[in-house]
Amino acid sequence: MAILVTGGAGFIGSHTVVELQNAGMDVVVLDNLANSSEESLKRVEKITGKPVKFYRADILDREALEDIFSKEEVDCVIHFAGLKAVGESVVKPWEYYNNNITGTLTLVDVMRKHNVKNMIFSSSATVYGDPAVIPVTEDCPKGVCTNPYGWTKSMLEQILSDIQKADPEWNVILLRYFNPIGAHKSGTIGENPNGIPNNLMPYITQVAVGKLKELGVYGNDYDTPDGTGVRDYIHVVDLAKGHVAAIKKINEKCGLEIYNLGTGVGYSVLDVVKNFEAASGVKIPYVIKERRAGDIATTYSSAEKAKKELGWTAEYGIKEMCEDSWRWQSNNPNGYAE
Ligand code: NAD
Ligand code: UFG
Repeated sequence: MAILVTGGAGFIGSHTVVELQNAGMDVVVLDNLANSSEESLKRVEKITGKPVKFYRADILDREALEDIFSKEEVDCVIHFAGLKAVGESVVKPWEYYNNNITGTLTLVDVMRKHNVKNMIFSSSATVYGDPAVIPVTEDCPKGVCTNPYGWTKSMLEQILSDIQKADPEWNVILLRYFNPIGAHKSGTIGENPNGIPNNLMPYITQVAVGKLKELGVYGNDYDTPDGTGVRDYIHVVDLAKGHVAAIKKINEKCGLEIYNLGTGVGYSVLDVVKNFEAASGVKIPYVIKERRAGDIATTYSSAEKAKKELGWTAEYGIKEMCEDSWRWQSNNPNGYAE
């Protein structure tokens, strides 16, 4: 029996395939390569020494999904496939709702026809909006999202919860990721954003390799210790291991469960800059800019539920996150492109 990983060529997906294979699980990857390269999977094969079975396919393509579910003995789907650029989602809401929501509905329909009713879904801390409680626990009410991308996650959580409620044969785990950064220790796989990065760490690493001039810090007048935004950064390898732990929970027939995947520790933008400079030895010039629309001051997780019920905790700290992000970027200044 295999785990089907949709979006498995992407940043979090490729790291998760490594951890699943290292844990001895059979993995099949589906990705349309809209935001990734097949090269990432070749590098995964080098890391694990195992072949990765890959289908270049779209979750909107029902026939392609039928073909995969007919050929492969899938017992669980880890569903990463989706578009994730916050700013782009504001400009192209139809494309985001269609890709993420219609795509997931199509996937789920084909799954149930093939009697595959186990899913781990990539959700996001963004569903909490400006969280009512910090550290954010899973029972903190969902909030108002500030962009269509965030709404796709919030709506898909609702859709998958309703599907599980209507048919208790389904086991669904919603994983709410905080801010994944870092890269595999080998420095051969990592985050490879298209164009100018939106997120903090890839922006910093591109300044460090000289591709960008300076970092813009979005606001230093928040109600935080140094005035800059505070987030819960989590090493992508820890995040990937969280999925291995979730598979074990799914195998216990858990019904519907929600887990935060974070470290429980918040760092400000300037904390990240300082830690990155210490890890890389490279100075990061920055300028203070206006606040970015839609940003909140502070969010970090309570990681207690995942610890108690999944036996999972993040092991890496900010130092390793910065060192590993830097190793990946400096070894691959152009990502997977030659
Ligand atoms: P990514 O873009 O690197 O990976 C997503 C993958 O899905 C890509 O390889 C892309 O080609 C593929 N894809 C997109 N649409 C598809 C479709 N219609 N059919 C098949 N494949 C498709 O992003 P990531 O950072 O690895 O994120 C993985 C998941 O985690 C996403 O669902 C994302 O929304 C979610 N998430 C990411 C973060 C983050 O900060 N990186 C935070 C919270 C949640
Ligand atoms: N920041 C800067 N300059 C930059 C980029 C970011 O100062 O160039 C700041 C932001 O203002 C924020 C912090 O760095 O305070 C982190 O910003 P990111 O864009 O890296 O991450 P966000 O917390 O805004 O959002 C990320 C993902 C979302 C996801 C959310 C919660 O981009 O998709 O985490 O999981 F929904």
